[in-house]
Amino acid sequence: MVDDRGTTIRIESRGPDDTRKIGKAIGSRLRGGEVILLKGTLGAGKTTLVQGIARGLGIEGPVQSPSFVLERIHRGRLELRHLDLYRLTGAEALEAGLLSEMGESDVTVIEWAERAEGLIRADLEVRIEKTREDQGRSIIIEARNPALKSLLEVQGTC
Ligand SMILES: Nc1ncnc2c1ncn2[C@@H]1O[C@H](COP(=O)(O)OP(=O)(O)O)[C@@H](O)[C@H]1O
Ligand SMILES: [Mg+2]
Repeated sequence: MVDDRGTTIRIESRGPDDTRKIGKAIGSRLRGGEVILLKGTLGAGKTTLVQGIARGLGIEGPVQSPSFVLERIHRGRLELRHLDLYRLTGAEALEAGLLSEMGESDVTVIEWAERAEGLIRADLEVRIEKTREDQGRSIIIEARNPALKSLLEVQGTC
């Protein structure tokens, strides 16, 4: 499903492997400098999606939730900055410098981006919603930056 302006798609994930596949398809299309906001409740699958994004960036090691450490950095084809704002307010994240330092060859992915609403420029927003199915998730991807519309090709992934 694509909306009228062609900037939003919805993909149905049937389990964690689907979500990782979708993440990988996103990661393999990134070029550097992108900021990706991830939204959804606890256990929605945000970290699972980032595991896929990391694979798509050529990162091989484990990708764990950064909710305690706030930030984890992985090196692959591009550097992945993986943030989790669960324990912070937006103001605290700003003050800690977590919402700055986005470089041309970095990809920044932010879990619990609801906390940073309005505080950060985003290229892509991904919302993950539980569906009635046990492992079902709807993954709604919005290209806020028109230059990233080609990323919506990931629709065909699952
Ligand atoms: N379709 C799905 N996509 C992602 N995770 C799923 C899915 N179905 C079940 N799960 C499970 O839900 C949990 C998601 O955890 P996680 O990715 O850490 O969520 P979050 O980071 O949003 O809190 C994992 O235990 C995962 O196995
Ligand atoms: Mg998480």
